[in-house]
Amino acid sequence: MSEVRICAIGTGRAGMVHALNFRWHVPHARLVAVVDTDRERAAQAAAELHLADRGFASLAEALAVTDIDAVVITTPTFTHASLVGAAAEHGLHVLCEKPMALDVRECDAMIAACEAAGVTLQLAFMRRFDPPFVQAKRQLEDGAIGTPLMVRSLTRGPGLPPAWANDIDTSNGMLAEVNSHDFDTVRWLAGAEYDEVHARAGALKRPDLLATLPRFYDVALVSAGMTNGTFGMIDGVCPADYGYDARAEIVGSAGVLFAGDIRSPGAARVTREGGAVGPHYTSWRERFAEAYRAEASHFVECIADGTTPQVGGIDGRAAVAAVVAANRSLREGRPIKVDG
Ligand SMILES: NC(=O)c1ccc[n+]([C@@H]2O[C@H](COP(=O)([O-])OP(=O)(O)OC[C@H]3O[C@@H](n4cnc5c(N)ncnc54)[C@H](O)[C@@H]3O)[C@@H](O)[C@H]2O)c1
Repeated sequence: MSEVRICAIGTGRAGMVHALNFRWHVPHARLVAVVDTDRERAAQAAAELHLADRGFASLAEALAVTDIDAVVITTPTFTHASLVGAAAEHGLHVLCEKPMALDVRECDAMIAACEAAGVTLQLAFMRRFDPPFVQAKRQLEDGAIGTPLMVRSLTRGPGLPPAWANDIDTSNGMLAEVNSHDFDTVRWLAGAEYDEVHARAGALKRPDLLATLPRFYDVALVSAGMTNGTFGMIDGVCPADYGYDARAEIVGSAGVLFAGDIRSPGAARVTREGGAVGPHYTSWRERFAEAYRAEASHFVECIADGTTPQVGGIDGRAAVAAVVAANRSLREGRPIKVDG
């Protein structure tokens, strides 16, 4: 299998997870450059990755001095559409972080640009590569719990995301930034599209942020009707303070399946002072470390073999459509049909 030369665009929180994986842990991948509009950050990331002078402030700068086959895009949501368009124009394969974009119009343009250029477009829904979630999906498909009746998916993040992600205009808010994964999980496990969503949310943990961001929310609950009659339920809390918590539960006609656990493997402790202390996940980096590597390897394999990724633009678009409808439900206080 030939080597795939990767450029990481965006070297913030998620960017460095992907960059480190492509640099050290993904067979047949070679990280050749990093790009960040913050030039100092790009240089610092390149140094951390032992890539010397391969930190650039734009993709164009990187392409001027390096051969690149593919990019991983880990910049704020409002930049994804234009960056994917630029990558496709240069014939580069794309692994794009969630949320795919701000609206379905942008998603359609991204899908069309990648199709026209004949390049791979994979969406970074890493739960699809996480062993417990994959096992749950397989068991569902094997009929282990009969027909799915209700799928619940939740994410509670330890701290607030970066400032741009608290602003609904640049991110679509917590339902997009944090719960995009849950919107994808419910659709994937239910095996159906979103028909309707009804959301409730509030700034219950950080009401102080309402002074500068009047539409900010940090606790949210969404009920969904899926096209095959399954019910979906999504919740999000961020900051949750107690750790990083990402789980799903599927109630079927003949049983129930659970995927994910707040408790990490390791030794629990019980002391005479009382109380039991169990090791638990404190960050998404730790909880999904294996899944991030598996999704990166899948991306490289798809490029090398010319196969279609397990999770692509259509899946990213479906989550964006549901998030946009849920935000509208918050504004209008009623259930909203999801724009298929
Ligand atoms: N899959 C996951 O588990 C996961 C976890 C965290 C973040 N994310 C996603 O990753 C993306 C980035 O989030 P983050 O938390 O890393 O953000 P961040 O703010 O920590 O980092 C973003 C970086 O992108 C740079 N940047 C901004 N615009 C740019 C542009 N046009 N070109 C190049 N660089 C640019 C910024 O300077 C910054 O260094 C978001 O889509 C977010 O939802 C995914």
